[in-house]
Amino acid sequence: MVDALRNAGALSVSLVAELDGKIVGHIAFSPVTIADGSEGWYGLGPISVTPDEQRRGIGSMLIRASLERLKKMGGKGCALVGDPAYYVRFGFRNPPELIHEGVPQDVFLALGFDQRPKAKMPRGSVAFHEAFLVKAWPSRSDGVAESDRCRPFCGQDFGPPLPPFFFGDGRIETEEEN
Ligand SMILES: CC(C)(COP(=O)(O)OP(=O)(O)OC[C@H]1O[C@@H](n2cnc3c(N)ncnc32)[C@H](O)[C@@H]1OP(=O)(O)O)[C@@H](O)C(=O)NCCC(=O)NCCS
Repeated sequence: MVDALRNAGALSVSLVAELDGKIVGHIAFSPVTIADGSEGWYGLGPISVTPDEQRRGIGSMLIRASLERLKKMGGKGCALVGDPAYYVRFGFRNPPELIHEGVPQDVFLALGFDQRPKAKMPRGSVAFHEAFLVKAWPSRSDGVAESDRCRPFCGQDFGPPLPPFFFGDGRIETEEEN
């Protein structure tokens, strides 16, 4: 999926977390479209932290660092599909104004960067980049079982796959930005 986003020139922010010279996490963002024509919104995903380094704050660091980066780029907000129990700590909420077709509303989350009381949220259906619709990944020779790979929507079948999420600890570096 990251390859597909990169090849399409849609990898808006891509950060890796490095620990002792090894990459232990990654997060990607790509532009989303919103039915009302709102611009400057991004989709979070995929995100992953290597299993041995999870629960050490790496994912949180990657999310916070990349949200700051999106804001500096002039981004207006971010949407994702994921477990609210994890993402509320970063300010994500179930947005009454936004939906993603085929995705249960309780796992569709958004964060508008303008937190002023009168700030308006966009309205309507959100569409992630078509790279998220990839249903089969090319086989790889890295020894990682397909079942262990990060899947869109955490492997849940909500219809067409969509965004995953997170990683991090140690040094965070920009892999690339468009
Ligand atoms: C989700 C993931 C990126 C989080 O990274 P991390 O570095 O472990 O996260 P942090 O250390 O910053 O945060 C850990 C906290 O998040 C919680 N958490 C982690 N994954 C969670 C999930 N899927 N749902 C809810 N809570 C989650 C942990 O319980 C922990 O909570 P606590 O601080 O209250 O103990 C990482 O667990 C991962 O790579 N998972 C596999 C890939 C994945 O599921 N990606 C997302 C969807 S495809």
